[in-house]
Amino acid sequence: MKIGMFDSGVGGLTVLKSVRDAFDKVDIVYLGDTARVPYGIKSRETIINYAKESANFLISQNVDIILIACNSVSANAMDVLQETFDIPIVGVIEAGVEAALKSSKTKHVGIIGTTATINSNKYQERLEAFNIKTYGKACPLFVPIVEEKLINTDISKKTVEFYLKEFKDLKDIDTIILGCTHYPLLEQDIKEFLPHINLVSSSDAIVSYIKDIIKNEGNATTELYFTDISENTSKLVEYIMGKKYDLKYINVETLSLNC
Ligand code: DGL
Repeated sequence: MKIGMFDSGVGGLTVLKSVRDAFDKVDIVYLGDTARVPYGIKSRETIINYAKESANFLISQNVDIILIACNSVSANAMDVLQETFDIPIVGVIEAGVEAALKSSKTKHVGIIGTTATINSNKYQERLEAFNIKTYGKACPLFVPIVEEKLINTDISKKTVEFYLKEFKDLKDIDTIILGCTHYPLLEQDIKEFLPHINLVSSSDAIVSYIKDIIKNEGNATTELYFTDISENTSKLVEYIMGKKYDLKYINVETLSLNC
């Protein structure tokens, strides 16, 4: 089976890592749109257009299924992608919601993510359908902090406090969804600040969500395409995946032209 995965950049590698570890035989093609990252501060229309181009590229690589690793895309473009393309397309929102429903005893759940994810209300709507009280909070500075590898520093700790201090007073919340590809890498900082809260990450949740639809068969290849490959891209790939990969370049104009 060949799985296509895409994200706005390198953050989706947290999802790729979970999927690669869980399904060791499948073939995976990953596309990170590093030339146009971040998506989380862009409009829904732009996110939809970029997402269609990425999905189209993966389909040209003969994938059997597409996993949207990016929360901002899953929240804003999933419905349009499912209507546009006729292969199975799975996002991270449902997986995160499923994990939060299992985790929360109090039925009060926080969601943190990019501005595009939080403003879409997708996580909130899905959870509220199960009578969960939700609190969404956009934390836009978390993405550059991770990309600058400032995890577990004074800067990350101060920023966690800045965005998440209101969760200290929201005593009923027992679970927070890390609704952004980058946030699992800040788990330790967040856990230190909110030790009583269970953190649920969509990158882990996706594995149990897709286990019944993925056939763990294939040649175990992992191809990584990026629309921009800088020194930082290679470093972040190694940092997140824990090993070096040969990175393949795909020009963003080629993505647009073929769509
Ligand atoms: N991958 C994005 C997400 O999960 C975070 C980075 C961005 O803003 O593009 O929402």
